[in-house]
Amino acid sequence: MSLNIFDVVNKIKSKVYKQITRWKRRRLHELANKIPGFRGLPFIGEIHKFSNLQLMDYTKKLMSYCENDNKITKAWFGPLLVILTENADCIHTILNSSHSLHKPSLFYNAFYMDRGLLAGNGEEYDRHRKILNKSFTVKLVQKLVPTFNEKSKTCVEKLKKNLNCDEFDAFEYVGTCTLESFSTGQLNYHEDLYDSNFMKYIDLTRPLIMKRMFSPWYNFKPLYKLSSLCKKLDEYFKILMENIENIKKSHFESSEGIHKDIVINLLMDKNNNFSEEELKDELITFIFAGHEATAISLSSAVLMLAIHQDVQKRVIDEINEIVGSTEEIDYELLSNLPYMEMVIKESLRLFPAGGILGRQTTDEMEIGGYKVPKGTALILSIFGMQRSAKYWGYDAHLFRPERFESENLKNVHPFAFEPFSGGKRVCIGIKYAMAFMKTFLINFLRAYKISSTLKFEDLTLDMVPTLIISQKYMIKIENRT
Ligand code: HEM
Repeated sequence: MSLNIFDVVNKIKSKVYKQITRWKRRRLHELANKIPGFRGLPFIGEIHKFSNLQLMDYTKKLMSYCENDNKITKAWFGPLLVILTENADCIHTILNSSHSLHKPSLFYNAFYMDRGLLAGNGEEYDRHRKILNKSFTVKLVQKLVPTFNEKSKTCVEKLKKNLNCDEFDAFEYVGTCTLESFSTGQLNYHEDLYDSNFMKYIDLTRPLIMKRMFSPWYNFKPLYKLSSLCKKLDEYFKILMENIENIKKSHFESSEGIHKDIVINLLMDKNNNFSEEELKDELITFIFAGHEATAISLSSAVLMLAIHQDVQKRVIDEINEIVGSTEEIDYELLSNLPYMEMVIKESLRLFPAGGILGRQTTDEMEIGGYKVPKGTALILSIFGMQRSAKYWGYDAHLFRPERFESENLKNVHPFAFEPFSGGKRVCIGIKYAMAFMKTFLINFLRAYKISSTLKFEDLTLDMVPTLIISQKYMIKIENRT
């Protein structure tokens, strides 16, 4: 039998490929063996421990892998090496390294927004981020404060029907106000979203995304495509897409007088070359990553104020002193509310919407004194770090805004607070979110005195996929004056 030149080349190629794969696996195991953690069962590693768990138990289990004295802990999910950590130095190293900028598809595929900023990677990600950074500069946020103010006032009006009634879930109002502020200010979309099907389907979609995210077997696409979960998610996303089409249509019909750098304008500007799919993925990203995280963080702060009456009193005293009764709120006023800022930060510390973050190594890198192989999934427990007594002292589990006074912060590890993530992939919306939350709190607290029968020590958490309070954000409101 004679071999031609192509057969020979192909045989050599396949041998070289096999050798490289073998060498890579050998290197992977050689490095992994030196990292402390769990070996798990042959082939499946730790996967069996996660089957049949409820979502929050899944997250708790995942976080429990970091609760030891190791800086990092390894676990195998089938052939995938996973490194887990809640160590502030390790988290800082990971967030700031160019070798761990990628998001692991294992968790982020579930979002239906592969090409958006949250889940995207590589050059396409860099291009998107560079363009969209323009929508979140201080200058643009300054211009959006009147919209935040107007929408917060609308929310205060809508809340009147709950005056002196039973407790209700503040998230329902805060969530809609957050989405309306974003859709008016950044998407040039002026619909009333209270009781809309847009809000309804965002709420319905959330737990399903979480289910997919934490079902590793659904990472195998053919299996996922056959599942009832896929059918439901496809159905809900179809409805969300119809809303997104309306947003685009409305902007197309009337974009007079709007700021050139708002999100929808940048996404639809032909010079920026966003394809239909990229545009859709970015809008879904902002709706899920942006609106959701802000609404949950603000709801947590509201609940903390309702539970801690002394803190609420200090915040309203500060508002009265600095803002007074003025109806016009501007960015400068917002920058001058130090106690309110401490309250928001303390709330973000205890209830970080992004409680667990994921990254993937694209090269070998050193973390906590160990060499971590290329292709490893990294799980960062921001929640664990921000509640650790090691960094925050014996009362780490308590709500105490004063810990953010500069004098007290001197004793805290400089990287132990990362509610917005960090490094190159830090949250794009920090200034936007802080300005919005403060504007809302000013209007809300000036109008209402809030209380709650929930006890701080009884609160438990769920993950959907953001970290939320299981008992909901139950508050009662009375007129302040
Ligand atoms: C208090 C409110 C917010 C919190 C706590 C928060 C938190 C976070 C966190 C932890 C991440 C990193 C996620 C990860 O790596 O998986 C992130 C990323 C992101 N956030 Fe926020 N966020 C908030 C508000 C916003 C707002 C208002 C927007 C935009 C409207 C926004 C848009 C984004 C985007 C696009 C990313 C991906 C950034 C990238 O990888 O380049 N976020 N946020």
